[in-house]
Amino acid sequence: MVYIYSPCLKVNEKGHLSISDCDTIDLAQQYGTPLYVMSEDEIRRVCRSYVESFQEFYGGNGRPIYASKAFCCKEMCRIVSSEGLDIEVVSGGELYTALKAGISGANIHFQGNNKSTAELEFALENNVGDIVVDNFSELEQLGKIAAEKEKVALISLRVKPGIDAHTHEFIRTGQIDSKFGLDLASGEAFQAAKHSLELPGVKLIGLHCHIGSQIMEKLPFVHAAEVMLNLYNQIKQELGVELDHLNLGGGFGIHYTEKDDFIPYHEYMKAVSAVIHEKCTELGLSLPKIYIEPGRSIVGESGITLYTVGNIREILQVRNYVAIDGGMFENPRYALYQSDYTCLIANKAAQPAAYTATIAGKCCESGDLIQEHTLIQPPEEGDILAVLSTGAYNYSMASNYNRNLRPPCIMVSHGQSRVIIKGETYEDLLRNDI
Ligand code: LLP
Repeated sequence: MVYIYSPCLKVNEKGHLSISDCDTIDLAQQYGTPLYVMSEDEIRRVCRSYVESFQEFYGGNGRPIYASKAFCCKEMCRIVSSEGLDIEVVSGGELYTALKAGISGANIHFQGNNKSTAELEFALENNVGDIVVDNFSELEQLGKIAAEKEKVALISLRVKPGIDAHTHEFIRTGQIDSKFGLDLASGEAFQAAKHSLELPGVKLIGLHCHIGSQIMEKLPFVHAAEVMLNLYNQIKQELGVELDHLNLGGGFGIHYTEKDDFIPYHEYMKAVSAVIHEKCTELGLSLPKIYIEPGRSIVGESGITLYTVGNIREILQVRNYVAIDGGMFENPRYALYQSDYTCLIANKAAQPAAYTATIAGKCCESGDLIQEHTLIQPPEEGDILAVLSTGAYNYSMASNYNRNLRPPCIMVSHGQSRVIIKGETYEDLLRNDI
């Protein structure tokens, strides 16, 4: 049997894959394929485990922020917000979505390394509670726009803390090659903090860092917290400003396959809280409010994608292509990053996975693959193929390549399903054509 790790997935008495007690074969019949399926129960479970970790280890002094780039739509914003999470956005479009979902600007954190004037104005008009300034040029620009509007923008500074955890081994370095943020080691971040005090249009309230994604261990986060607290302290000592918060970013790993091994999410807060308490005592600081900014881990394992198997081509001694009715237009992650996924035939979920398949999409592109040489149950045309852990960075990275339609997305909970994003129609494709 294929290894199924997400708590919302089971194999039911019919031998079918189920998600939040909905039979995936029934879902495929009812809504068609390709189909994004998200478990509300699982999303809420993960949100709660993060929120509880703040209560348990940090006296509730802070909260998680959902990084909406992982999966952004109105219903998702409503769900995470009802669990007490703030929302991070990185574009006018994500900001618009959150606002239209009824999220107050005060609970929105606006990131981005090159925000446009229009986006900054939009954020100010909607009283976004935390604009995370990425660079000097943005600091100047925001100060000017806010002053013109007779507003004061509440800002944090995005800092490059010299910790890079993009790979399995994290590195500590003075200089990170990154387009994001103000450099810590050279003093650039401190200079930006100092300069912000001269700008009447901005008020510095926090510091932010983000050290990578799909990180499996806690140590890089602990080092980031230490390094960021040093800057926090320097700002207090030398500029006389006590900041409101420290945002330590997202990046917590999830399961894509059996190989992925990571620590439970509450362990991060436990470890980070311990080092913050220790360091604040040492420096004589009062405890700052802490934010973390998970995206993938909130939603990744709650999502699966269902496809119908089309033609199967067995090229002797080369590979077995199993074609599906989706592809890189609705999940570009293998084509982009060769990302691992667990795949299975949902209507044969209880059977041994004894067939080596290359799952091929329907785009006019040889690299349009979802997975290569992966073990699934022996497939036949008309079977339903499930790809697991597609909740994050799948819908949000989808396109209309080859004028394919973006599939619908449904939310399931306790055996019930509902559409949260309608599937596109051909008319939708032409909406902006002249
Ligand atoms: N905060 C900031 C500032 C970020 O840049 C990111 C992700 C997050 C939070 C959330 O990180 P997470 O918890 O989701 O790892 N498209 C790639 C992932 C790009 C992540 C970019 N930044 C993928 O499909 O793997």
